[in-house]
Amino acid sequence: MSSAPGSGHLSADIVTRARELIGLYPHPRSALIPICHLAQEQDGWLSPEAIDEIAALVGLTPAEVLGTASFYEMLHTEPVGTYVISVCTNIACMLRGAYELLDHIQDTLDVRAGATTADGMFTLEEAECIADCGRAPCLAVNHRFVGDVTPQSFDSLVDGLRAGTMSDDIPRHGTLVRVRRQGGLRVDDATIRAERETAAAKATGGA
Ligand code: FES
Repeated sequence: MSSAPGSGHLSADIVTRARELIGLYPHPRSALIPICHLAQEQDGWLSPEAIDEIAALVGLTPAEVLGTASFYEMLHTEPVGTYVISVCTNIACMLRGAYELLDHIQDTLDVRAGATTADGMFTLEEAECIADCGRAPCLAVNHRFVGDVTPQSFDSLVDGLRAGTMSDDIPRHGTLVRVRRQGGLRVDDATIRAERETAAAKATGGA
């Protein structure tokens, strides 16, 4: 059974923003993916508590929310580190030393691909082509791209992340964008209500 929206885990600000998102769509469930990203912004991943509250907000079951979220690479249904490092080992990067780079990263961070460092700072994963082949070998940290990576430049990157000097370029995991959208698909409540009534009438054969 899902929790009542705003029943505790998600912050009041996140719940308010989620309700604003729901207002942009004809059906609450259509806002599911953006709300998952919003919730992930709070914890860096989608905890069971967050999934329960999202389900209540959009009128789905927690199993339906989990089933959808687990399909998408960018949504995490298990805890991840503050920084998720995705190392591309596809063909262009492989030919330019991706596996040697991955070995270096595993040794440096003392973690294998697919796992998180003991201090919870870094999750390391091997990725398919991240569409930055011209700068192979490359990686992404929290979906921000870093190209022409060498062992030395990787070490500098990690030093910067640990020291907190790179937060302008690479925020903690879960922050997809830092600019909040204004307007866009926003439609007034009366229009949405009318569209819902028409859709409901059609579904019951009344129109
Ligand atoms: S092969 Fe690595 S980014 Fe395309």
